[in-house]
Amino acid sequence: MSDLPKSVSLREVGPRDGLQNELPVPTDAKVRLLDMLSQTGLKRIEAVSFVHPRAIPQMADADEVWSQAKHVDGIRYSALVPNLKGTERALAAGFRELEIVVSASDTHNRKNINRSTAESLADIEAVAARVHEAGATLEVIISTSFGCPYEGEIPVSRVLDVATHAVRSGADRLAFGDTTGVGTPSRVAALVDGVRSAHPDVPVLMHFHNTRGTALANLLTAMQHGITEFDASVGGLGGCPYAPGASGNVATEEVVHMLEDMGIDTGVDLDALLEVAAYAQEIVGHELPSGVLKAGPRTRTVAA
Ligand code: COA
Ligand code: ZN
Repeated sequence: MSDLPKSVSLREVGPRDGLQNELPVPTDAKVRLLDMLSQTGLKRIEAVSFVHPRAIPQMADADEVWSQAKHVDGIRYSALVPNLKGTERALAAGFRELEIVVSASDTHNRKNINRSTAESLADIEAVAARVHEAGATLEVIISTSFGCPYEGEIPVSRVLDVATHAVRSGADRLAFGDTTGVGTPSRVAALVDGVRSAHPDVPVLMHFHNTRGTALANLLTAMQHGITEFDASVGGLGGCPYAPGASGNVATEEVVHMLEDMGIDTGVDLDALLEVAAYAQEIVGHELPSGVLKAGPRTRTVAA
């Protein structure tokens, strides 16, 4: 275990991972959401994905959203891609930070990307070469790193093999996704320790979903094991319309609220973020799961 960090780097993924799991919202609302997020102090925002519009209709307007949103200096905006075609689209749109997704589980990768994990991995080298040629960087996000809804357990060794293949193929960074929120602190510790000893020089980000209530515990554990980069989504936006009880990523304001009180700097203005969470709730038209959105910050008092 290492000491807790003095600061962490949060990447907001509500506009992508969040909105892709909601009923489609209008383009102008997506643009406004991005613009509001850009004013909260967040330094990284995953803005859109360039996937097949039939697979994810919610991202069909990615080009419009990105061209209409304000691009604020000093913020690292990124885009998720599934393949070389998405890579070309993201580079053409001007992105210089790309994330390519591959699942540790073969069945999940087939459902998501229509290819086996091995087939997706075989593409990464060409994608990385293309991205680097354009002067951009590539993160490989490994989904179902803690378990798969179709295959169940995914051994840490399998996830580490995928990670090693990604690094050898040119990944600049790695991310591990707990896609369906089945991770627990002991599993997080095992995976993080494994990846840090296998790839001590590669930046690693963790992506937790709060489907089963373990996201903040997982995040704290990852910090204790040396991780300082996390995805989060405003309001806890996300979930899956086809999976009753599913919820989204760990809520950004819950992370900011907890870390700032622990003296760990996030750079984010919690009040501004809560306004964005309220707006996110309005545009998706249903209550979002964030506890801090419902109850307010711990400093809020009510009349006695
Ligand atoms: N964006 C837009 N169109 C794309 C594309 C992309 N990233 N990748 C492929 N296509 C097009 C091809 O050009 C081809 O078009 P054509 O029929 O006009 O020639 C068509 O899609 C089929 O191409 P193919 O490579 O066979 O794709 P596929 O049908 O096997 O679908 C994916 C594969 C990856 C494109 C699709 O499954 C996908 O977009 N998945 C993303 C899922 C996702 O976003 N999940 C959540 C994020 S983790
Ligand atoms: Zn996710």
